[in-house]
Amino acid sequence: MTHRIAVLPGDGIGPEITEQAVRVLNELGLALVIEQAPVGGAAYDLSGHPLPPETLALAQNSSAILFGAVGDWKYDKLPREHRPEQAILGLRKALGLFANLRPAILYPELANASSLKPEIVSGLDILILRELTGDIYFGQPRGVRIATDGPYKGEQEGFDTMRYAVPEIKRIAHLGFQSAMKRSRKLCSVDKANVLETSQLWRDTVIEVSKEYPDVALSHMYVDNAAMQLVRAPREFDVIVTGNLFGDILSDEAAMLTGSIGMLPSASLNASGQGLYEPSHGSAPDIAGKGVANPLATILSAAMMLRYSLNEPVAADRIEDAVRQVLSQGFRTADINESGMTKLSTAEMGDAVVAALNK
Ligand code: IPM
Ligand code: MG
Repeated sequence: MTHRIAVLPGDGIGPEITEQAVRVLNELGLALVIEQAPVGGAAYDLSGHPLPPETLALAQNSSAILFGAVGDWKYDKLPREHRPEQAILGLRKALGLFANLRPAILYPELANASSLKPEIVSGLDILILRELTGDIYFGQPRGVRIATDGPYKGEQEGFDTMRYAVPEIKRIAHLGFQSAMKRSRKLCSVDKANVLETSQLWRDTVIEVSKEYPDVALSHMYVDNAAMQLVRAPREFDVIVTGNLFGDILSDEAAMLTGSIGMLPSASLNASGQGLYEPSHGSAPDIAGKGVANPLATILSAAMMLRYSLNEPVAADRIEDAVRQVLSQGFRTADINESGMTKLSTAEMGDAVVAALNK
């Protein structure tokens, strides 16, 4: 079976880290057709659009997409539709990638990298399931206008719309319960039902869906409290399911608990299992081209791709084992380095993973 993979390197450190992940993929002895296309600011510079039609078509015709990162300050002044971020938002929407899986795992070797005390984070293993194609990110209407009512009548105002339909909530809730069944059967749904109508409907719908999963212990938490509990006692969480906006914020917080956002992969899936895989970190333009970026989050994203979209679990295990091996051998990139360890460049870390794979 030949797998078609689209590689979209993007901006900043995107090209260097995806290069290493592609090297690792090519070591697995699988039949892969890997094609690259520009995305984000890089695509804008080439063709005037962050998500050119050819790039979107390549993504649509592939079983899976390996995405680097997009964004650079130099594009901040462009009109919104030309900014690099529109590439990832456009891909999510066009491919219907409604389910975003963001694991936050603390590797035992990196326990000191967290800004929290080791006794609070050791053994941390959380899965954040973020709804990715709805909510205030995509809700219409939105815009900037002159207010026609209220105390600021006549003034310029900005507005966005938070909205979720029941079927949208149901499908992500089902995935939340199914993920919980595969783990410790605990699901925490995060909302702001004490204030928002959308959130009340979210909560009622999750409760409705829970009737089909009697073995899962469901809890609910307001998002402000969840942000607090994540730093107070993060190990109380197992699977968190939440909307697009809250998930954006909480997944960055959870990633930081591990102290090594350079290690965390993510998967964004649609209803047919097609997926986009990307590191949880951004494009880090400040270190781009210096060969110091950590490629492990992207390499681990490739492992998630093999597991969730390509049905190659053995190859996925091989990559994850290889990453654990290089960590236990004391190899570190600059972001996770400590005294006594061996500091490697981006490409040297790729070499180390390839060597571990072939052992
Ligand atoms: C993320 C990012 C994106 C988001 C940006 C780049 C549009 O922060 O994937 O979490 O807000 O979803
Ligand atoms: Mg984010």
